[in-house]
Amino acid sequence: MKEKVEKLKKEILEKVAKAKDLKIISDLRVEYLGKKGPINELTSHMKELSTDEKKDFGKLLNDIKQAVTEALDNKKNKFEEEELNKKLASESIDITLPATKIPTGSPNILEKVIEDFEDVFMSMGYDIVDGPELEEDRFNFELLGLPKGHPARDAQDTFYVKDDELLLRSHTSPVQARVMLAKKGIEPVRIICPGKAYRRDDDDATHSHQFTQIEGLIVDKNIKLSDLKGTVTVICKRLFGNDTVTRFRPSYYQFTEPSVEMDISCFNCKGKGCNICKNSGWITIGGAGVVHYDVLRGCGYDPEKWSGFAFGFGAERCAMLKYGINDIRTFYNTDLRETKNFDRREVE
Ligand code: PHE
Repeated sequence: MKEKVEKLKKEILEKVAKAKDLKIISDLRVEYLGKKGPINELTSHMKELSTDEKKDFGKLLNDIKQAVTEALDNKKNKFEEEELNKKLASESIDITLPATKIPTGSPNILEKVIEDFEDVFMSMGYDIVDGPELEEDRFNFELLGLPKGHPARDAQDTFYVKDDELLLRSHTSPVQARVMLAKKGIEPVRIICPGKAYRRDDDDATHSHQFTQIEGLIVDKNIKLSDLKGTVTVICKRLFGNDTVTRFRPSYYQFTEPSVEMDISCFNCKGKGCNICKNSGWITIGGAGVVHYDVLRGCGYDPEKWSGFAFGFGAERCAMLKYGINDIRTFYNTDLRETKNFDRREVE
């Protein structure tokens, strides 16, 4: 009997050793260790044996069961490990490869500058208003001291849509008249209006037939030129840096008196002179002035009681200065490489 068991053990172990895959291992397990298998079948002979014999035979059976189970388990583990390694090898990641770049969007640089302006003005209690780009001659010119035939109209030649009456606004100043008329001469005004303006300019690096202005108007009691200077100085410090110095130069607009050009110290060279400020140390960012008596009166405000100031910042100009852009057309073309440049600047 002992020989029979040993023979069987040898036979099974040989088969296990030769097994080539997991399927064979599992078949062998069923075949030899299963209920109808030869080992189980041997157990049924137990009852024919004496107590002493039973002891030895039981040990023998345990031994073969253990040996077969162990062999099957080892082989199974080996196959599973091999399979896992194969899988890992096929799925391995080469971490030295450059990462795939995921393109991300970024804010339009002009919109961003306008929003910066809006944030600062809103923090100072200004409302943001809109006006039509297709404007009436009355608002664009007449109520602003530019009657028909006035020579200064030539400097703002624009696109007329219907006879002499409807035109693409040549500046955002008509919004001043619209807001004052709406407030009916009884309420103070404190607004800014960012928006598009149009002129019959030939497009080049610094001119565009369509551009953006940020108009501002305040009408209240006892408003003076010094209030304008103070306001513009705070705004420019917030937008261009705390060490920015503002300067007013005398100018002329029909709707303000006195009128000024607003300059800021060049943030690139801090006033020493460089190619951005054309060696002057100063950069012009817009026009402004104290609201003209006739404009106040024409728009329903009594100039003896009310006074105000108005300004118009060139939005593209401010954005060009802030981000070092040297061609205004950059804002309107759709070249994504340009946007990437600005992304980098933003990160710096
Ligand atoms: N509207 C003027 C221009 O386009 C700028 C300006 C606005 C001047 C408000 C004075 C007051 O040049």
